[in-house]
This record gives sequence, C-alpha cells and structure tokens, in this order.
Amino acid sequence: MCGIVGCILAEKSASKKAFESLLRLKYRGYDSAGMAGIEDGKLVVKKDAGKLEEINQRINFLEITSNIVIGHTRWATHGAPTRENAHPHIDCNGEVAVVHNGVIENFQELKDELIESGHKFRSRTDTEVVPHLVEEGFKKGYDLFNSVLYAVKRIKGSYALAIISTREPDKIICVCNESPLIIGIGVDGMYCASDIPAILPYTNKIISLKNGEIAVLRHDSYIIRRILDGSPVTRSPQIIDWSPDVAMKQGYPHFMLKEIHEQPQSLRNGLRLQEKYLDLISLFMDRGKKIFIVAAGTSYHAGVAASYMFSKLAKVHVHPVVASEFIENYGDAIDIDTVVLAVSQSGETYDTLKAVDYARMRAATVIGITNTLGSTLTRVSRAYILQQAGPEIGVAATKTFTSQLIVLAQIALRLSKMRGKLSQDEIDEFKSKLHEIPDIVDEVIKSSESRVKEIVNKYRDENLFIFIGRGISTATALEGRLKLLEISYIPSIAYPAGESKHGPIAIIEEGVPVIVIAPNDSTRKDIIGNIMEMKARGARIISICEAGDREIAELSDDIIEIPRGVHELLTPIPYVIPLQLFAYYMAVEKGFNPDEPRNLAKSVTVP
Ligand code: M6R
Repeated sequence: MCGIVGCILAEKSASKKAFESLLRLKYRGYDSAGMAGIEDGKLVVKKDAGKLEEINQRINFLEITSNIVIGHTRWATHGAPTRENAHPHIDCNGEVAVVHNGVIENFQELKDELIESGHKFRSRTDTEVVPHLVEEGFKKGYDLFNSVLYAVKRIKGSYALAIISTREPDKIICVCNESPLIIGIGVDGMYCASDIPAILPYTNKIISLKNGEIAVLRHDSYIIRRILDGSPVTRSPQIIDWSPDVAMKQGYPHFMLKEIHEQPQSLRNGLRLQEKYLDLISLFMDRGKKIFIVAAGTSYHAGVAASYMFSKLAKVHVHPVVASEFIENYGDAIDIDTVVLAVSQSGETYDTLKAVDYARMRAATVIGITNTLGSTLTRVSRAYILQQAGPEIGVAATKTFTSQLIVLAQIALRLSKMRGKLSQDEIDEFKSKLHEIPDIVDEVIKSSESRVKEIVNKYRDENLFIFIGRGISTATALEGRLKLLEISYIPSIAYPAGESKHGPIAIIEEGVPVIVIAPNDSTRKDIIGNIMEMKARGARIISICEAGDREIAELSDDIIEIPRGVHELLTPIPYVIPLQLFAYYMAVEKGFNPDEPRNLAKSVTVP
C-alpha cells in the first residue's frame, strides 16, 4: 500500500498542498517519497528514500514552483526502498511522470518488451512500465489522454495512478482499478488522492472513482470516463463532514476496524504474487529435509494453519514453532538440510530474528514472508515473499494474518505442483477457490458485523471464553482467542477440540461461553461430538459455521454463518473475520482502545 496525491491549481502553490497531503497519507507508507511538477514546461522531480519530513529537509519539495504536482509516499513492494525506486517514475524523454499505488502483475513481460524496443529503465519497480507505455502512446501519435488509455489497457493488476506530462501541462490524468482513488473538487483547483483525509483541509466535495474509470482534472474542471468504452460518467460529489481524527481513519473509529474492512483488498493484493518468487521459495522448501515455520503471535497462528496446507496439498511435513522456543527445542537438530520459513509481519520481531540468525549459523536455509520490504528479515533471507497488505497501524494483527494465510496457501500449492502431488483438476479447483476468497471475506464482513455486535452485547459480562476447533480450525481458534485476549483483556483459552476430554472440559460449567469454529470440512462430525459434550455440561455454544448448517445451528445458542463452498484449507481466512470483529466490539464495549492495547507494542524488537 502506498499513498498518492495530485493537485492542479490556478496558482503556483501546488507543491505545498501536495506535501501537506502526503504528510496525511504517511500511514499508507513511509519508506520513501517523491513529488513531480512542471516548471516552465519542464518536469521537475524530487524524490528520495527515508521518512517524508527528513527527505523534505534534504531536498525541499516546496522548491517546486508549479500549479500542477503529483506526489507519492511509498511502502515498498517491488524493489527496495531506494531513491531510484521512489516515485514519481518518468519516461525516457522526461516528459511523463507517474505515481502509482497497487501492483502491476504483468510488469516483467511489459518491461522485457519495452527494453527490447529501446526503453531505458532506472528502477526495479513495477510502476516504471507505465510512463514508458505512455511514451509509446505518444510515439503512436496519441494525445496524453489516449496514451494513458493505451498504457492502462496493457497493464494487468491493481492501480491508482496520477499522471502528468509536459506535453499537456494543464491536466492530471487519474486512473483507478482495484486501488482506491478519490477526486476532490476545490474552489482553488482540483485534487486527487488515495483517500479523503489527504485533501480534506482543501475540500470536502469528494467523488470516489470506481474500478475501470479514468478522470481528467484541470484546475477548473474535471471529467470522468469509463476505460472500456470511453463513455462519460456522471456522479455527484459527496459532502464529507468528518472530524480530523475520524478522517485519518477514513471514517472508522479505530484503525483496527478500518484494517478489518480492508481485508478484501489486501487479500486481492496477496493474490498478485510474482511467479518467480513463489517458484524460488517452493524450490528451497522442496530441497529441505527438515522444514520449520518459525514465527510469533498471530504469525505463528498463520504458521499452524500453513502446516495443514503443506501436509494436505504438498504432502510435506512442515513444523510450526513459536520463535522464542525454536533454539531451545530444536537448536541441536538444525543443520544444512534444514529450511526455516520465518513469518513476520514486521520482519523485525526479536525472537523470530534470533531463531533465524541461529539457523543461518548452522547453515540452514532461511526464507521469509513479511509485510515489510527493507526489514531485517528481507535482508537475512535467501528469498522472501511480501504479503502486500500495506501498513497495519492497529497493534492487533488482522489484515496481515489473512494475507499471510493467502500467501502461504499459494506457496503450498506451488510446492505441491513442483512435487507432482495434485492433479491438474485439483490444482485448478484450489486456484479458483483461492480467487473466490476476497469476495467471500467481503460478504462475511457485511453479513456478520451487526450479528457480532448483538452477540457481544449478550456476552459482554462474561469473564472467560473458550475457543475450540479441529484440524486447520485449531489455528482459527488460537487466533480468535489471541485477538479477544489482547484487546479486551478477557481471559480466554483455545485448543484443538479433541483435547477437551484430556483436561479443559473440567472448567465447563453452567453458562460458560464456548466459541466453536465449525466449518463443513472433514472434522465436522467430530466437532459436533465436542459441541454435544460441552452442551451436556451447561456450556453456551457460539458457532461459526457454514450457512444453512441446520444441525450445528440447532445445537448452538448463537451462530454466525459463513458462505458455503469455502475450501477446507482456506476456511481460516473467512472464519477468523467474525472473531476479529468480536474482539474489536468487545474491547469497545468495555471502553478499551483496541488500537493501543496495554503492555503491547506493534513490533516486539526486544528479548
Ligand atoms: O511482526 P510479527 O508478525 O513478527 O509480530 C509477531 C507478534 O508480535 C504479533 O503477531 C502479535 O502477536 C500481535 N499483537 C498479534 O495481534
């Protein structure tokens, strides 16, 4: 996730406004930043790696004296956070500047083709293909609008783009596809940005662009068209009346809730991984004789779920280990035949990095999954994959958990393919189930939120919750428990349901709430047995189950339904959503700030 902004005014004060907008977009990315304007018919580009304010002290963005400026604050996904990879990116002739938020999936083939036809690339980003494609449009004799159309018809993926050119310095072209982009209609000019807060001090008249739309902004007018057929779009602006604090959270009261709602998008981004990195990671895993997933907290729970994926899809034993126990438990067994897959949202967790260092010293192969390009984990891993979830501000991990799962599922599938463990039909079936997940999550958020609030209201005075699941749902139960515990401070336990009779059932008495993760998978019959044994002892059952599962509904006091047909190895993704919402609304109900739970930090970088 990155932040983009554009500003076209009657006066030459666009750089100041664009800079202030970028400051308000910092939460979307903060490893590098840049701006471009047009001065006396020439493109002026200023950009660098680092934090926005520090960069500004070094290169002073406000020196750009222009009425037209585009800007970018970056959260690196393709190419490290360096000056060269910072946006804006330009074409060979210095006529076109582009800022981009999203992922261009087919950039490598486009880049190869453009290099072949003589284009010079300066960065390792996916974005840089765009200015070069616009340049190609110019070569074909098109104007700026049609050159941009030519470019966007060739790219695949997600993009919010703002583009300027010295050839037509009176306009910004904005394009939107699966990455957010809004237009602001001001009295002094027109604006575009990744989100509303960025430009709210200048105007509260906002139009949200929809997928497949392209807009042309002049300082005193705007038009919107559909990319597909060029037909005009008429949409009235909304008048936004948010307070500054609410604006930062895009209308949500907390970052955690905003990030829960971002999951359909972060999951879509998580499906746009580069094939070559999936291949490389799978190749390393295939060579390992002992394979561990090493992680902490929520990332460990993703690792637990992944161990089922690897075993069932690729027929490989992958052992998930809590990072802080790795050396003590398995240290002596680590050698050159070991592969350690470290999973860490931040890429900076002390326990995970310590385990990784130890493994490297013993000649093991370390590979990583992280949300943070440039983090220590990316530097010490032989290969890594980025989750593409964008920055997560809430201390409780939500969208980064589900994006870890979708990345891990794709690695497991790739490994399975490499090892010849699934038929072509099975591979195709799993792939299509993977691609259904973002829409299913969207539906779950929409359908379950008010139901979750009712359940929170009913159980608000409970002082113990038990979470159970079987098979891969054990991971979902563990994660649901952690969410509730860490932000609402209610003591909770979670365990694989089969363990009940080996001890935990002793604490069940009249009225104890038990949250059961009960998808329609191979464990369903057994979990029904567990529900019955809990009920017989007076427990109140809250089930997360498949829509229309009458048997589970009849045994439960409350249910939350998840759409039918989710692949059993993907159930943790939609099934954890109501649990995230449950924890969130419980914390709010109790008057706690879910974004800043006591005693916890977003990234635990100390022993
Ligand atoms: O950055 P990491 O994924 O390595 O962080 C690991 C844990 O510290 C983290 O998941 C923590 O458990 C969160 N508070 C969970 O919400």
